[in-house]
Amino acid sequence: RPLLSPAPPLPALHSSLGFSIIAFVAALYLVPALGGIMVKANLKGRDLLKTYDTPIPESLGLVCASIYILLLILFIPFPFTSWYNGHGGNSSGSKTREGLSINEFPHHLLSLYLSSLLSLLMATMLGFLDDIFDIRWRHKLPIPIIASIPLLMVYYAEGGNTHVVVPIPLRPILRRSLVNLGPLYYLYMSLLSTFATNSINILAGINGAEAAQALVIALSVVLNDLLYLPWPFDFRIPLHLLGGQKEVDVGGVWAAGMAYGSRELVERHLFSLYFMLPLVGVCAGFIYHNWYPARVFPGDTLCYVTGMAFAVVGIQAHFSKTLLLFFLPQIFNFVLSCPQLFGLVPCPRHRVPRFDANTNLLHPSRALFERPPSNLSTLVLRALSLLGLAELTVHPRTGQILETTNLTILNVFLVRLGPMNEKRLVQVLICTQIAGSVFAFVVRYGLAGLVYDG
Ligand code: UD1
Ligand code: MG
Repeated sequence: RPLLSPAPPLPALHSSLGFSIIAFVAALYLVPALGGIMVKANLKGRDLLKTYDTPIPESLGLVCASIYILLLILFIPFPFTSWYNGHGGNSSGSKTREGLSINEFPHHLLSLYLSSLLSLLMATMLGFLDDIFDIRWRHKLPIPIIASIPLLMVYYAEGGNTHVVVPIPLRPILRRSLVNLGPLYYLYMSLLSTFATNSINILAGINGAEAAQALVIALSVVLNDLLYLPWPFDFRIPLHLLGGQKEVDVGGVWAAGMAYGSRELVERHLFSLYFMLPLVGVCAGFIYHNWYPARVFPGDTLCYVTGMAFAVVGIQAHFSKTLLLFFLPQIFNFVLSCPQLFGLVPCPRHRVPRFDANTNLLHPSRALFERPPSNLSTLVLRALSLLGLAELTVHPRTGQILETTNLTILNVFLVRLGPMNEKRLVQVLICTQIAGSVFAFVVRYGLAGLVYDG
């Protein structure tokens, strides 16, 4: 692979930073300005955890998604500037600084870009339809899978890798260090898109939760991308040392990742930055209005668009496993929610914590069994209760489960830490998300060296 000599980040990155500032300012101004229109269109909701019932404009995620996608479309020409800067018509056959053949337009980058936009548009449409019609679970789950097909096709066309590195302890069993997952890898990537879109949506219901999750994940992805740019100094060295590795230049699970400075790798992480920086801008502008006490709600549109943006960069820039590490709180919340999502335990329309108007505190909310729970449900709930993740109310004589706290991470916080107000709960959520990201970086750049080698 051609190596880039250490050079400052490419010029399009500066434009992308500019676009993200525009995104921030646009969200800051347009979200409150368009709230009234949403209310007129009957897109409004009651804040469930307040004493007042003033209608709050809902679905402002549509405004965020519009700003985001329009800016991404305006940005399309920028990553290609080095191609037109005097190189377009030249046929001398020499190479540009980035190692591109002069006459060769980087079509693969353009298709990467356009297919990603297509998936983001699909996510916006799905989210907005969900806001209007409250689509059923079984109907909305497959749509992000279909929306990911353009991404997968581009991945395939690029000769996308479907191998995974086997951890050292498993090698004697599998007798190899690389396993080709083939079509299963594509299945995994398409499931990633439906997971990313839905997992933020089900960790919601308190002011600022959705936007804050998206903001922390986006910032984590940005930080991870920055590690791969051709800086004059390898920022990853302290991270390796953190993991206690003697050798800085290890390969292994990140064999590709460690080809430090390879053009392809820099390109992929730049691509990810182009999609993440404006998202950070939009979410930061939006959260200002969505912060406790919320003046606007994001609706499902924001959850779907941000989730799809993460799936897009994870797939296209080939760091889906690292991305999943940034989703640890969402994975926990999803796994915990499974008994309710898949019908083992009753799932009320809203699983948000219960609000006590007298004390202004939130308490765990509960799901009531109208019929006696099955043996499997009882077993699952007893296990969760043993782990301290659910609080059960049982019949004093028969021991039958009558009620359980709703199975969400927000209720777990309240069960473990006791009642607290809404602002504190969202702060706890943000701290957890940040702690998850710190853990992700340690696992990715430190501990990975213990289970993977060169
Ligand atoms: C998901 C959750 C649901 C949770 C809801 C809250 C699952 C399976 N579904 O449903 O349990 O109650 O999100 O968003 O886990 N709201 C607030 N404060 C907020 C944000 C939202 O009170 O900060 C309320 C408002 O009434 C708003 C409504 O939630 O109108 C939006 O709910 P919606 O996004 O449609 O719910 P779902 O995504 O279907
Ligand atoms: Mg929602």
